[in-house]
Order: sequence, then C-alpha cells, then structure tokens
Amino acid sequence: MYKTFYSLAKTPFTKDMKQAEAYRSTSYQEALNGLNYLQTSKGIGLIIGDPGAGKTFTLRSFKDSLNPSLYHVVYFPLSTGGVMDFYRGLAYGLGEEPKFRKVDLFRQIQQGIERMDQGRKVTPVFILDEMHMAKDAFLQDLAILFNFQMDSSNPFILVLAGLPHLKTRLNLNHHRPLTQRIIMRYQFQPLKKDDVFAYIDHHMKLAGANMPIFTEPALEAIALRTQGWPRVIDTLTTNCLLFGAQLKKEQIDEEIVRMAAEDGGL
Ligand SMILES: Nc1ncnc2c1ncn2[C@@H]1O[C@H](COP(=O)(O)OP(=O)(O)OP(=O)(O)O)[C@@H](O)[C@H]1O
Ligand SMILES: [Mg+2]
Repeated sequence: MYKTFYSLAKTPFTKDMKQAEAYRSTSYQEALNGLNYLQTSKGIGLIIGDPGAGKTFTLRSFKDSLNPSLYHVVYFPLSTGGVMDFYRGLAYGLGEEPKFRKVDLFRQIQQGIERMDQGRKVTPVFILDEMHMAKDAFLQDLAILFNFQMDSSNPFILVLAGLPHLKTRLNLNHHRPLTQRIIMRYQFQPLKKDDVFAYIDHHMKLAGANMPIFTEPALEAIALRTQGWPRVIDTLTTNCLLFGAQLKKEQIDEEIVRMAAEDGGL
C-alpha cells in the first residue's frame, strides 16, 4: 500500500536483500576486513554484536566472497537441533556419513577436515552462528575438535558469532583452551547518526525513491530511537512508511516517527 503512495518500485528494508546491495557501514567493512584476514591466516575468529547489528548479514557477504572451488562453507545457526545433531551436521557438511559414537565422530570430522585441506586443497570454513546459546560443554568440545596442533598451519577456518555475552562467557577460565586459539575478534558497533541517515537513504534509493521522503528531524528521531541498530532501523522505518501512507503524508516528519515508534514499542 505505501509502495504505491510513495511511488516506490520495490519494498525497502527486506530481509532478502542481496549482498551486492549492502550498505557499507564502518562495522560491515571492518568485520569483513577481519574475516578476510582470517581467510588468509586460517584458524578461529569471533564476531560479536547486539541483536540486529548485522552479524549474519555480514557473514553471508563473507560466504559469498569465497571462491567455491577453494573454500567449502558449512554454515550452522546453533538454534537448530542438539549438540550431537551439530557434530553429525559437520560430518555431513564434510561429505562424510556420520559415525555413531561421539569419539568416532570427532576423529571422523578431524580426518574429513585434513582430507579436504590436504587432499583436495579445499579449505573447510565453518560458520557457527548464534553461539551465545551454546552449552559450556559444547564450547569446550570445540577446543578439542579444532585442535590440530600437529600441523604447522591450521587446515580450517572457524567463525564463531553471537551476542555480546558470548564474549563474557569465553573469558571464563574453563574456556581458555578455546579463547587462546582465537586469532581474530570483531565487535559490531551501532551506526553513528550520519551513517543512519545514509543507511536509510541507501535503502530508499534501492527501492526506487526519487525524492527524500523523510525530513531531517524525522531521520534524527529515527537515529535516536533505534540507537543505530540496523534491524531496529528497518522495522521502525517500515512502520513510518505505513503510518505516513495511511495519513497521506507526502513527507514523513518526526510526529510520524513518534507514532510509529510508540506503535512498535520503542
Ligand atoms: N550492511 C548492511 N547493509 C544493509 N542491510 C543490513 C546491513 N547490516 C544489517 N542489515 C540489515 O539488518 C538486518 C539484521 O541484520 P542481521 O540479521 O545480520 O543481524 P544479527 O547481528 O545477525 O542479529 P541477531 O543477533 O539477532 O541474529 C538484516 O536482515 C539486514 O536487512
Ligand atoms: Mg544473526
């Protein structure tokens, strides 16, 4: 409905946004730089950020940037299934038929990683998302599973991503074997005010807007209410467009932002 009212060709702020259309915010670029470093050095990296900061979105960009004939990506959001399902999934991801016992499964995964790296010259890349939900035992397992000390170089890339309390948990003593092996860390920051303005402008232009729909005070109010977190900006801005169209406002002002924010519980 608002698309017609604001003469937009596409719906802005959709979840299925293409990576090529990413807004290149500072955090987005710095996180990608960190991941690119990990790509050359191999080993374990940590990506931390508040909800809706852009972690998964950026990991998708990283995945897309890898040459599939040189890198084999296994992406796992931890929210799906139990721990054993996860180990089985890793074995499957490496093209193996999972063994039954955990100890055999671990050996199988390690051998699968080495075979892929040394035999086929393909680097396995494991992206484990939502890791703040991981049980302690699982985090401790990871240190064992990804321990290739006999090798001079790491035969894999492992990216752990999650909310900020993952970092706090990893700092505890019993996770030192894993934490000591982390060679790249990045924590997402919220978009600064200017970046929020540019982020909204970027999305509106992609949707085909040919004139500014949001007034400057409206953009200021959005920056303030969302504190610069991309997903919150997406939701609030969409809500503003809905309210604006309903009230037949050609331009969205701070009053519309207030209504939309209160409606969305911000
Ligand atoms: N650089 C970007 N360019 C364009 N859109 C972005 C960018 N970063 C994030 N977004 C938008 O913000 C939304 C939320 O980002 P994302 O899902 O990556 O957050 P997250 O950090 O993984 O959050 P959670 O911890 O809740 O999983 C994405 O669906 C995407 O639409
Ligand atoms: Mg995510």
